[in-house]
Amino acid sequence: MKYPKEYLDEIKTRLKVSTVVSKSVNLKKRGKEFVGLSPFKTEKTPSFTVNDEKGFYHCFSTAEHGNIFDFIMKTQNLKFGEAVKYLANLAGMQPYTFSKKDEEREKKWNEYSEIFKMYVEFYHNELLKNQDFNFAKEYLKKRRLSKEDVLNFKIGFVPFNSNFYEKIKSKFDEKNIIDTGLFYFDDKKKIYVERFRDRIIFPINSITGQPIALGGRTIKENNYLAKYINSPETPFFKKGSNLYNLDYARKLSNKIEYVYLVEGYMDVVGLRSKGIENVVANLGTSLTDRQISVLNQFYDDLIICFDGDESGYKAALRAAENLIKELKPEKQISFLFLPDKEDPDSFVNKNGKDFFIEFTQENKISIHNFIFNHYKNETKNDPSSLAIFEKKIRSIAYSIKDEFIKKYVLEFFLEKLSLLTPNTAQNKNKTFYKKTRSLQSTQKHFNETKNLSSIEIKEFSFLYLIINNLELVKNYLNLLENVKLFSNENKIIYDSLLKKLQNDKPLSKNDLSLDPQILEKITQFASIKHILNKIKNEEYKILELLEEIIGDIKNHELEARIEKLESKFSKDLDESTFNEIRELKKSQKIN
Ligand code: UTP
Ligand code: MN
Repeated sequence: MKYPKEYLDEIKTRLKVSTVVSKSVNLKKRGKEFVGLSPFKTEKTPSFTVNDEKGFYHCFSTAEHGNIFDFIMKTQNLKFGEAVKYLANLAGMQPYTFSKKDEEREKKWNEYSEIFKMYVEFYHNELLKNQDFNFAKEYLKKRRLSKEDVLNFKIGFVPFNSNFYEKIKSKFDEKNIIDTGLFYFDDKKKIYVERFRDRIIFPINSITGQPIALGGRTIKENNYLAKYINSPETPFFKKGSNLYNLDYARKLSNKIEYVYLVEGYMDVVGLRSKGIENVVANLGTSLTDRQISVLNQFYDDLIICFDGDESGYKAALRAAENLIKELKPEKQISFLFLPDKEDPDSFVNKNGKDFFIEFTQENKISIHNFIFNHYKNETKNDPSSLAIFEKKIRSIAYSIKDEFIKKYVLEFFLEKLSLLTPNTAQNKNKTFYKKTRSLQSTQKHFNETKNLSSIEIKEFSFLYLIINNLELVKNYLNLLENVKLFSNENKIIYDSLLKKLQNDKPLSKNDLSLDPQILEKITQFASIKHILNKIKNEEYKILELLEEIIGDIKNHELEARIEKLESKFSKDLDESTFNEIRELKKSQKIN
């Protein structure tokens, strides 16, 4: 029986991998990970690592890899259900009792995956063995697919007059057959028709490798039929969450650092066939955040390589603007543009694996460079056009959620922009020096801020806003209630600021008698400086910004408390600690 995802997730939330593993393996902390002697092999030097953030353990000497459930199943030789019971108990949870609804869903899933398995197997064998379909084989050969590719991807062919429905209707519930999306009802003829008839089919697997949907390509040269059709959404196939070939590619993440994300089935087949196996496709839908976060569970470094045509470029731009918002410091997203009219499949077929990889290294471009260059190329060298350009790239930078990334992307944009701006002739001659100097300054800046935490940067923004809007803030002192700062140095400044603000006398920046060095530091690191400049005279917007920053600072305090409790919880596994964490998490969301 299948446990609901929420129940398993709750066990995972309550139990860190290191908590579970350390019951049988002696672990030592090393950076973000833990290391220890492998439980799968006798060894003298530790090759076994645990990463709580990713929720995985990995053994370098045996390539064993998995989550807490895998660990218990393997080390204690238990079945999945038994491992769940064991871990639920360890997490202080009640054993799961399956309801009628669970049983029904389980039964439905069993039939669903059974039908798909039979379907895929059947038409795969037909393609391989039935002489009548030699024309389909010829087509694949023409497209440079070997027999091995057909086997690897379990590619099949569904003939025009086939009727798989008749074959299975006695074995399965009618509703369950229809819910697979493999057939639709022909109202005129009153029969079920194969959705994928007369098409080559590519099975799409779940992350654990069972076929759950299909893509089908017509092999006819006409333009009234869609070239590809995909399975509709079904109870077990959600388009925005699945990626083609992920079940295979995820297993390579221990060996290869990055993964290619391409548009089409044929791109995946072509690349894998030429030896580039770390590749997935998003299949005709626009790329979603969910797909990226699924990929990020396995890979930190993502290379998006769409077709070298206009629609591929547009899709890449749409993806870039959407994904940059979610960018995280440890994750990387880059884009690879192929020569005109090429797609990854045609390009790797022409040039081979080594060239493809070399081409990637030389031509991939980071997400922020891509966005900058795109809008720059649309900009003419006149003030109005430049102003629109600046506005656009600033607004893209502001849309980034992570404070660090926001700060650096904004700085990167402004730096590049300053090199572009048409200056006097005298300035132009200095461009070279200016360039090297500013790059050095960025570097220096980076080195300095590296040692600052994101909360410190937030606090600098908070102080900067107050210092530069004293009279305004004075009228809204209630906003500052219950704001606690984290860094000691900032706390002292804040306290003295508050005292002066509470005084009735008019207040200007000079009355603050702040240490110039401290003031400089605040000014230097306040990431909202540029935003604030833009809304200089708009009180309402300034207050809104202040409220937002205060919200973030309060959230940080909550986070720190949660983190402490979580580490306490991982030791005592106490129900009341857990409930406290849960309450805090709730109030964190409201804030
Ligand atoms: P492409 O037309 O680039 O596909 O569309 P491809 O894989 O390169 O096709 P061929 O076989 O080499 O000509 C990219 C992806 O967009 C989706 C499919 O997932 C396809 O693989 N698509 C394309 C559709 O869903 N429907 C279509 O009509 C076309
Ligand atoms: Mn293509």
